[in-house]
Amino acid sequence: MKNYIKHHPWSIIEEGFVPEYNQISESIFSLGNGMFGQRANFEEQYSGESLQGNYVAGVYYPDKTRVGWWKNGYPEYFAKVLNAANWIGIHISFEDEALDLATCEVEHFRRELNMKEGWLKREFTAKMPSGKRVKVEATRICSMARTKVGALSYQVTPLNFSGVARIVPFVDFDVINADSNYDEKFWNEQHRKASHDFSYVVASTKKTDFWVATGMKFNISGGFSMESAQEFEREKYVEVAVTGRVEEGKPLTIEKYAANISSMYFAKTQLVEVCEKEVLEAAQVGFDKLLLEHKEAWAAKWQMSDIVIDGDVSAQQGIRFNIFQLNQTYTGEDERLNIGPKGFTGEKYGGSTYWDTEAYCLAFYLATSDKQVARNLVLYRYKHLQKAIENAQKLGFTNGAALYPMVTMNGEECHNEWEITFEEIHRNGAIAYAIYDYINYHGDEDYLIDYGLEVLIAISRFWAQRVHWSKQKGQYVMHGVTGPNEYENNVNNNWYTSKIALWTLQYTLEGLQKYKGTTQLNELFQKLNFKEAETEKWQHILDNMYLGYDEKRGVFLQQDGFLDKELMPVSDIPAGQRPINQNWSWDRILRSCFIKQADTLQGIYLFEDEFDLETIERNFDFYEPMTVHESSLSPCVHAILASKLGRKEKAYEMYLRTARLDLDDYNNDTEDGCHTTSMAGTWMAFAKGFAGMRVRSGELYFSPYLPDHWDGYSFKIKFRERNLTIKATKGHVTIMNESADDLGIYLFDKKYELAGNGKIDAPMN
Ligand code: BGC
Repeated sequence: MKNYIKHHPWSIIEEGFVPEYNQISESIFSLGNGMFGQRANFEEQYSGESLQGNYVAGVYYPDKTRVGWWKNGYPEYFAKVLNAANWIGIHISFEDEALDLATCEVEHFRRELNMKEGWLKREFTAKMPSGKRVKVEATRICSMARTKVGALSYQVTPLNFSGVARIVPFVDFDVINADSNYDEKFWNEQHRKASHDFSYVVASTKKTDFWVATGMKFNISGGFSMESAQEFEREKYVEVAVTGRVEEGKPLTIEKYAANISSMYFAKTQLVEVCEKEVLEAAQVGFDKLLLEHKEAWAAKWQMSDIVIDGDVSAQQGIRFNIFQLNQTYTGEDERLNIGPKGFTGEKYGGSTYWDTEAYCLAFYLATSDKQVARNLVLYRYKHLQKAIENAQKLGFTNGAALYPMVTMNGEECHNEWEITFEEIHRNGAIAYAIYDYINYHGDEDYLIDYGLEVLIAISRFWAQRVHWSKQKGQYVMHGVTGPNEYENNVNNNWYTSKIALWTLQYTLEGLQKYKGTTQLNELFQKLNFKEAETEKWQHILDNMYLGYDEKRGVFLQQDGFLDKELMPVSDIPAGQRPINQNWSWDRILRSCFIKQADTLQGIYLFEDEFDLETIERNFDFYEPMTVHESSLSPCVHAILASKLGRKEKAYEMYLRTARLDLDDYNNDTEDGCHTTSMAGTWMAFAKGFAGMRVRSGELYFSPYLPDHWDGYSFKIKFRERNLTIKATKGHVTIMNESADDLGIYLFDKKYELAGNGKIDAPMN
């Protein structure tokens, strides 16, 4: 755990330059706008450790699978989010000496990410090896108002010298992915041009043939008398090298405008034209005005999604950082896009879609965006249904059964560890549950018959084939699975997986019942070649499925062999051996009782209304002490359950851990990128934990409480076309309806009619 980020309610601030932290900061200070994202790499040359990253939404490369031992059923490739062109770069040198912080004495260094307005600023004063001292102030945006455009303003002041400066803005597509399986480069050049008016490179991905044009234009003003400008090109690279005189104490400013245009949105023949138009328009508007419209776009985002916490700056900064990253990762206009575990902040995990989206991210976008945004997330899987059916076929399933992939870019599976690819099938349940979640929140009932049931039937068909009848038990069982806890594999009867499978069957049956006899359903049956007799087997499974339960302890069994393990609390792990995934052999981890992330408790969280408080408490007290929370997705679920149980301190501890996971680099891996999907978990920990927010049968419930460390909080949600603000102070809750229409709301289980533009005031329980 680190503690170098200054606490501030709206900004992320780093003071002083620590090269060892540079890659962590490159992740934390990343910018994005839903269409592309840029790590906080430096504009000028940097020869120290750095992970270069500019990622363009939806553009990926199928990197040939690399495994030690091939297993039938493995996918051929792992889809990687691609590092695309460097558009921020400006090489600077004075009298042929390059400005490079790795070779300088850094006298002053400060980075600030202003989350309210969405800009990144870096200031430094550095002494170059020759003794020349320079001061730099650089501000950058990935425009939220024009999502193709990135812009920066880079001001340099020679502090103790005058002389010749060489300034070289460039676009470099000759980039690599650090995680390339065979050290291969993924881009081919299509064309390029270096010109003072507009320079660009168009490159295409190998195999997938995505084309991206990245172009730039710049201007230099202030203390600089230009002597010459030289255009230069080489493969995948264009630059314009400008030489001129600088004067001691006189700042010069370079403004650079760039655009990333991809063939996801435009014909390949149009890319350069669109790119040029975007870049020239941005240059015409100028940096200051671009910044202004960008700030306005961010103000609108915050208007929908801000959370204010009084009396605890570190918690405040944490939640805003999470919300900021989520808003800059996914804006929801395009149902082909999704939320990678690292968003636009790093390459790891391939940047593709995991069950994280449905199980963790959906809740945030449901409550803080227009309906279309969450709908697009759910539709994403509908569009991938055929691929999910093919994936199941590949594993031997029949009759239209679907197994959605563990990791995907385009619907095809690209994960290749057998214990996850083939066994971590609970992801299918999360995808089914998301359909219910979406409909329950937004009341979009038609979604079920228009799209939802088709997916649900296919997933139910999978579950019906994946269980088998045990003569021994006289019940159905599900063998050879990996639950959310990836620290044990190939287990039998993982309670969570079986539970969510049953839930899917039940929900699908209810859906079929609701539309029974309708033309739409009959048409669907025809399309899917569905025989109603299939439902008899589903019902039989529902009535006869084995779910492990330990009578003595009164807990659900994570899996059949769990109680035979040597059970001990995490506190018994000797000091210095955590995280265990960095200190223990895999064999030792698999045999241990230690749990990576919520597993049985994931099910208790999801289906809480089925259990009384004592049952929840017994399971929490049994499993949580054995949980190491080594997945970023773990603390949020525990924070929600701890809140429900009135364990305020535990909830707060878990909340801080999820909220500040990257800011404090808890898991020692933020240098690879931020844990973007778990940031939505932070939002859930707040809304479902502290505010006790639930949607039951389409109605909104709150049971807020205030952590002892806070003086108050307020947050906003959008529910069924109403904008609500929920405010909690010591002893008081207020819910304001900022829309014209009434809404029935439950507060501490008492129903209120909240009038349009009215409010409810109630004492805190
Ligand atoms: C977790 C998975 C998760 C993946 C991507 C893993 O460490 O165990 O549940 O889907 O990370 O975030």
